[in-house]
Amino acid sequence: VEELSLRPRYLSEYIGQNQIKENLKIYIEAAKMRKEALDHVLLYGPPGLGKTTLANIVANELGVNLRTTSGPAIERPGDLAALLTNLQEGDVLFIDEIHRLHRTVEEVLYPAMEDSALDIMIGKGPSARSVRLDLPPFTLVGATTRAGLLSAPLRDRFGIVSRLEFYTMEELSYIVSRGADIFGIQIVGDAADEIALRSRGTPRIANRLLKRVRDYAQVRGDGMITEAVAGEALQMLQVDPKGLDMIDHKMLNAMITGFRGGPVGLDTIAATIGEESQTIEDVYEPYLLQIGYLQRTPRGRIVTAAAYNHLGIPYPEDRG
Ligand code: ADE
Repeated sequence: VEELSLRPRYLSEYIGQNQIKENLKIYIEAAKMRKEALDHVLLYGPPGLGKTTLANIVANELGVNLRTTSGPAIERPGDLAALLTNLQEGDVLFIDEIHRLHRTVEEVLYPAMEDSALDIMIGKGPSARSVRLDLPPFTLVGATTRAGLLSAPLRDRFGIVSRLEFYTMEELSYIVSRGADIFGIQIVGDAADEIALRSRGTPRIANRLLKRVRDYAQVRGDGMITEAVAGEALQMLQVDPKGLDMIDHKMLNAMITGFRGGPVGLDTIAATIGEESQTIEDVYEPYLLQIGYLQRTPRGRIVTAAAYNHLGIPYPEDRG
């Protein structure tokens, strides 16, 4: 419940992602004026940037119901058919991790998205035939960390495709201050900035850090989040001044000590530090690429001079 209350419910409360907000506002208003369902929306980008929040906001702004599920949760075509036939006209169906839909389920989605129709197979073998059932018009909001993993036919059926970007320090600081307001606690501007600085451009992390700093302020101080309190609390959280955590450090250090900073393949990095390749690619790598600590090349990942500098390790002379 607390998690939900931190989440903005309308576009006007949502900080950042300005281009996406502007676009959605127009498309939503137009759909409402025509009394039609909004076109299908695909939201993609690294985890924690607000895809689920935006799906909720789209439903709220449209004034319709939201049904939430995820790719792996829909095991059989019948599960999706059940969801679709329970929608009311104009409702939003949110499918998180949509790149993990089973192929057989995905095929049910195509006619649903394109024609608001459900094709049901009746019988088996040579006498099998398909019957078409009309569905109420609806809006599918799909979310994925990696649009590249979607099949082309699925991707092509989204009329609105938006990529979420990492947030700026100013935006994150504002989100932290807003969160403190919601919690009913006081925070000084410099403390909000300090939390923002260590949040990897990601509101989910900013809000998580804020909660831990709030705990610290409550137990060790008088509840007020001063710059000193924030600094001490953040020190305990093992998040460095750039927001890098233990796994980021492990990965960069492994690449430097084991592979002279690269190039080294993703799977090799994953095996070396005992993480899933997919987790590294979806969760850890995007921010390191964004701040210029990692580079992707056709031959693998490379640790940059900026990363060596941050870690306090001399950059090898022969690397230019
Ligand atoms: N909390 C999490 N993400 C947010 C955002 N983008 N705007 C405002 N509050 C948030």
